[in-house]
Amino acid sequence: KKPAGAPDKALARPVTKVGVIGAGLMASQFALLFVRRLQVPVVITDLDQSRVDKGLGYIRDEIAALLAKGRISHDESNRLNALVSGTTDKADFADADWVIEAVFEELGVKQDVFAEIEKHISDTAVLATNTSSLSVEQIGAKLAHPERLVGFHFFNPVAVMPLIEVVNAPATSDETLATAMAVAAKLKKTAVITRDTPGFVVNRVLAKVLGEAMHAVDTGTSFEVMNRALDRFGLPMSPFELLELVGLKVGAHVLDTHHAAFPDRFFESANLHRLAEHGRIFDRDDKGKIKGF
Ligand code: CAA
Repeated sequence: KKPAGAPDKALARPVTKVGVIGAGLMASQFALLFVRRLQVPVVITDLDQSRVDKGLGYIRDEIAALLAKGRISHDESNRLNALVSGTTDKADFADADWVIEAVFEELGVKQDVFAEIEKHISDTAVLATNTSSLSVEQIGAKLAHPERLVGFHFFNPVAVMPLIEVVNAPATSDETLATAMAVAAKLKKTAVITRDTPGFVVNRVLAKVLGEAMHAVDTGTSFEVMNRALDRFGLPMSPFELLELVGLKVGAHVLDTHHAAFPDRFFESANLHRLAEHGRIFDRDDKGKIKGF
């Protein structure tokens, strides 16, 4: 059994360039955070140029929004834009010393992504996965050096939510863990070190709430009643709004992972899978305000 708690800070490796694998919404959100807080080059990649361009577009739009709100200066905006780049060439990751992925939440996909990127990176680069609930140990199963992999789990919206779960897998080295803690501190996030267990800490609890809400719908409660019943219950948003924020496909995956690990404690929801294909739960107006279901 590994010792709990943070390793010696002195073991942390310097991070001078960040590589981000995946250019979807989650990856783009944290790519922006890395460039803002670490002020080092950040390169993002995805399966094809159009996905890379979409992610880069999101980052540049957010930088423009920060400038428009007066949160950053013109100089800072120019500097951030110059530090961010996109690529489909993995060779551009050769000098990255922190490489983090947020690709599709499927074990085989993540295993292959890491096995492939390991061929292109330096021996000392640290690898991180933003998985929501998959086993970090299994994600690293095809790595030549699994000791360099750590879980680094952000929450949506990345800019606002203060927490990062740093997942200490059985193989994760102290150097890797110390680097992850140092990176989280530079991002000005609260880091908690968790065990490599399904759902880590937060999603284990959240899956209970979201799963019960979906199960109520699966067994005959309407979305509207469920949504209204939980209004003003101290939640920042209803379980269904939260599912949309997280992404219905990601939410369905998280619930499935929990159900597979603890079938007597968590529900899987056929309705959620159906809705994930449909893309949304709510009808919204063009400003995003909820009109109905
Ligand atoms: N991106 C960037 N910033 C955002 C944002 C977004 N998507 N949404 C809101 N914000 C910012 C706003 O700009 C605003 O910032 P300023 O005050 O600096 O201008 C601030 O957040 C508050 O926003 P609002 O006043 O518009 O909205 P609010 O007070 O209703 O809060 C919320 C919005 C923070 C999203 C709140 O509803 C909330 O906390 N919801 C729950 C979120 C949550 O539980 N996330 C975890 C999901 S689980 C997950 O992600 C992990 C997983 O593995 C599945």
